[in-house]
Amino acid sequence: MTQVKTRRDLILEEMGLTPVWRLRGARAEEAPVAAPEAIPESRASSPEPPQPGIAQEPRVTTHESRITEPGDRRATIMRMEWPGLKEAVASCTSCPLHAKRNKTVFGVGDENADWLFVGEGPGADEDAQGEPFVGQAGKLLDSMLAAIKLQRGTNVYIANVVKCRPPGNRNPEPGEALACEPYLDRQIDLLRPRLIVALGKVAAANLLATDASVASMRGKVHDYRGTPLIVTYHPAYLLRSLTDKAKAWADLCFAVRTMGDLKRETDAAT
Ligand code: URA
Ligand code: SF4
Repeated sequence: MTQVKTRRDLILEEMGLTPVWRLRGARAEEAPVAAPEAIPESRASSPEPPQPGIAQEPRVTTHESRITEPGDRRATIMRMEWPGLKEAVASCTSCPLHAKRNKTVFGVGDENADWLFVGEGPGADEDAQGEPFVGQAGKLLDSMLAAIKLQRGTNVYIANVVKCRPPGNRNPEPGEALACEPYLDRQIDLLRPRLIVALGKVAAANLLATDASVASMRGKVHDYRGTPLIVTYHPAYLLRSLTDKAKAWADLCFAVRTMGDLKRETDAAT
């Protein structure tokens, strides 16, 4: 094949993502609606993800933090505007993670975004730079965004469950996630995204207050305090799992379809 490669093709190739992430068809501005040719066993063995709607499994709606979070701190944070919120995070010492951090990682992107991607917490690169998803996993996240015609900073916001790096990249402890939760909650209130994409088990577990597996949460529209939320694999995990990369592609297609439905719902209501 002598087809000329675009810069994006080269990037995807570099990331080892082709052919899985290549968009099919020429309608560049149209979101992908079908998985590409390389979608493997998941197509054959499992049905289409259900259409967006209500999550099919019972959801815990009363999040633990609403009960145990000291009311004053949470209430204060929930009244903050962007500048105050950013300052509060930058100087926060509310959990043990503050002790070893270099930089807090507030979040980055378009403050009017339709899309919010939520990861787990900063790694070494993020801790050094103060920006989420700038290391290897971040490159993959950028490729995932590019595959659905999104770009960091435009109509997308990226944040984490915890704003300070858990030492050695361990998972955040429940108490740390709980202490940090009001910041993400306030970010979500200020952003009012149409759709949240939880990246990986830690994000999903904290946002949905569940211990369910990512596999069991994929393909459904969940609800986070009134905002639709879908779950997919964490890019750092995808770097190690080829088969689940294909599933993550299917999840992104589902996310795009869901976003389309949500926009149509809003349009119909206005
Ligand atoms: N992994 C995450 O969950 N978040 C980041 O910001 C970087 C890596
Ligand atoms: Fe504060 Fe969150 Fe950092 Fe803990 S992780 S110190 S709660 S900003």
